[in-house]
Amino acid sequence: MGHPDLVVVSNRGPLSFSTGADGELVTRRGAGGLVSSLGPAVVGTGATWVAAAITDADRLAASKGAVEAEGFRLCSLAIDPAAYRQFYDVIANATLWFLNHGLYDLPRRPRIDRRWHEAWATFRDVNHSFAAAVAAEAPEGGTVLVHDYQLPLVGAAVARLRPDLRTGYFHHTPFCEPSTLRVLPDAVATELLAAMAGHGASGFHSERWSHAFEACARAVLGTTPATFVSPAAIDATELAVVAASPESTAELQHLEERVGDRHLIVRVDRIELSKNLLRGFLAFEALLEEEPHWRERVVFAASVYPSRDGLPEYLAYRAEVEAFVERLNTTWSTPSWTPVLLDMSDSFPRSVAALRRYDVLLVNPVRDGMNLVALEGPVLNERDGVLALSTEAGAWDVLAHGALGLNPFDISGTAAALSEALSMPAEERAARAAILHRAATRRTPQDWLDDQLAVATPASGGAGD
Ligand code: F6P
Repeated sequence: MGHPDLVVVSNRGPLSFSTGADGELVTRRGAGGLVSSLGPAVVGTGATWVAAAITDADRLAASKGAVEAEGFRLCSLAIDPAAYRQFYDVIANATLWFLNHGLYDLPRRPRIDRRWHEAWATFRDVNHSFAAAVAAEAPEGGTVLVHDYQLPLVGAAVARLRPDLRTGYFHHTPFCEPSTLRVLPDAVATELLAAMAGHGASGFHSERWSHAFEACARAVLGTTPATFVSPAAIDATELAVVAASPESTAELQHLEERVGDRHLIVRVDRIELSKNLLRGFLAFEALLEEEPHWRERVVFAASVYPSRDGLPEYLAYRAEVEAFVERLNTTWSTPSWTPVLLDMSDSFPRSVAALRRYDVLLVNPVRDGMNLVALEGPVLNERDGVLALSTEAGAWDVLAHGALGLNPFDISGTAAALSEALSMPAEERAARAAILHRAATRRTPQDWLDDQLAVATPASGGAGD
């Protein structure tokens, strides 16, 4: 037991629950990048993990008390569902996520009105409920690591309740520039930044995001808070286990049958505005238009699964993606060829199979804190596949030497990157694949956790409210 005095805090937890046929609770691993990189480092440490109970089954599990999992304790926090929607949908996702990823259509959104201010007050309350749960659970003199943009106000509140604790914060998304932050009312921007600065230190996946946060803090607070940069790492051992599983092997065989000896472009993403799915398909279509020799010789397998269906923007985006792919396939299909295979089933073994088989992996977010698919692909791939990667992803800092960089807004440029990747000589593919593999496995989830533990210090309590 390595860290019995550690408390990890995140919105989405390492386990999620569902109810089986006869009403019993079934446990499975929680979804998302945060859990897949932090989970392996926390397993077996004896730490406590405080997370939100998100579904009805999670709430049922929470009502039965803390769960002893694989060498850690999960304390689920059941929040009133209406309050949770204000916290998660209105502020965390429709405001902070949009702000940090630059997704606002500014002539129309956001609308900072009375309802928005009520939602912000609820966001503060929910953050404080997390802080109270941490204060109740944390051992004397322990360390609290708070994760992500949903919980920026937790550490400062913890510091006021339990000054004996060390705190650290990790922000998984990009951070916006000062000019973008000006969308928020001054008092809210001040509260947000002061509370983040109230942790021992705030961590980011890329220097770009930490510099932006520091610039915002200087502009709004007049001070530069403690920060650190530590890109998340993937668990290569766990990936190898999934890749070798009968489920993933069967999925690979199924994919091989559909693709045959054609080239394969793959993407694996949530259906998420920042992931830039539409420009990816537009670039593929531009390739088919401009380089006719690729018609019938390449297939684009898109494993994209729905998320955040409480937000109209996500529902509309999903409908747009489906309609676009249908139109593209109607335009270009032949009796023996379907250009885009759209799979929206959220099957991890199936996504892993696609990552084993790609010739080109397209990762083109408009902005991304890190992007773990860009690391997972090169570790799983068995064909010296080429990574075409947005320079706006935090992962670019780690993978720039082996990937083909692309400007995610430039559809012609993305089509050119796809063309270059598909035509790349075998020797160059192998050399780049080896560089990517080394870069993606250089650090482990344990290294990432160690970086966070090293900088957690007794916090100031900030000026969070
Ligand atoms: O910051 C990124 C993140 O929190 C990841 O952990 C995860 O992949 C993604 O956002 C998912 O978000 P949600 O919990 O809203 O599904």
